[in-house]
Amino acid sequence: MLGKRILLIVGGGIAAYKACELVRLIRKEGASVTCVLTAGGSQFVTAMTLAALSENPVHTNLFDLKNEVEMGHIQLSRAADLVVVCPATADLLAKMAAGIADDLATTLLLATDKPVLAVPAMNVRMWLHAATSRNVASLRADGVTVLEPDEGAMACGEYGPGRLPEPPAVLAAIRAALTDAPATPGPLAGRHVLVTAGPTHEPIDPVRYIANRSSGQQGFAIAAAAARAGARVTLVSGPVHLPTPPGVTRVDVETAREMAAAVDAALPADVAVLVAAVADWRTADAADEKIKKAPGSGPPTLALTENPDILAGLARSPRRPPLLIGFAAETEKVLEHATAKRARKQVDWIVANDVSGDVMGGANNAVHVVTAAGVESLPEMPKDAVAAALVQRIVDALGQ
Ligand code: C5P
Repeated sequence: MLGKRILLIVGGGIAAYKACELVRLIRKEGASVTCVLTAGGSQFVTAMTLAALSENPVHTNLFDLKNEVEMGHIQLSRAADLVVVCPATADLLAKMAAGIADDLATTLLLATDKPVLAVPAMNVRMWLHAATSRNVASLRADGVTVLEPDEGAMACGEYGPGRLPEPPAVLAAIRAALTDAPATPGPLAGRHVLVTAGPTHEPIDPVRYIANRSSGQQGFAIAAAAARAGARVTLVSGPVHLPTPPGVTRVDVETAREMAAAVDAALPADVAVLVAAVADWRTADAADEKIKKAPGSGPPTLALTENPDILAGLARSPRRPPLLIGFAAETEKVLEHATAKRARKQVDWIVANDVSGDVMGGANNAVHVVTAAGVESLPEMPKDAVAAALVQRIVDALGQ
């Protein structure tokens, strides 16, 4: 990010204080920041704070003649490499989607010819409102990168999606947006990478389900790394609490059968990396109504039936991706089981990990890459680094 110029539009919301931390993080990377503070934003942070942190004048007023002479709003909107809207309120997103330009921030957004990254933060009901969903969809269709908000407790006391992602996550998205610039196509440009991630939920009745402990982090990290390498990425995800990585097309599913259908619909792909921890079994007959606890009659018996093996199915398919990679979470005899799984499922690579510790849901992973050439064991490292190492091996394999 060295030498890059970020125009940061700070909207009005309690999360505006996180924009201050973001300015600090961007500057630490060697990029410069010019801030535009909306009237709403100035209710939460001051222009003085942003000016001190960015070491640049902060712009607030569309009709500031002095600034208009020194630097018109058109020029301000184009002197940046990337325009970041953080926090992007429901109101700002609506104005951006409609092309309304009634203050400096929205005028700059309409006048810019630079990539725009919006980081939403708002009350959960506002985020889930049909109008906001519509606005976000139009902005994405217009080429604006709109991050998914985080899920959790909100300042207003409610719980759900709508929280501003933490500044390091926004910084990562900024870095990706800057490197995604088409001027430097990555080594996977023109390739389609299909990734599955997370658990599946198999309903028992409308309120209960069978699942496993997968958080989805490793699969999401692989999708993000493939997108950073320039690939078109489809990420088929089970139910997880993770934001969609920049540049990734996400398809949310719940059950194994839905995941199998979404994988099939995403074909053809050059590479498929199936990281999802798919439930091996589902209930033979999910009840339509909640199963009641009848006094004296003991617990119900659950009849289970096998789910489709998506990976093995893909290996046998006429549309088998040329490079097919499976994961193997094992709690014992990791290499022995992984090597047998590679042969049994007829895949090119098995990435094996020992999940007897706290890998599932944890930040780190230690994997062994089992290929026709043998086993390569990587040291324990953050899941992002595992993803980068794996994508590097994919780049090398496709190059041969
Ligand atoms: O047989 P096992 O579940 O250990 O195999 C793990 C690998 O197979 C993973 O890559 C997982 O995504 C994939 N898998 C699948 N569909 C299933 C079960 C596992 O795609 N029903």
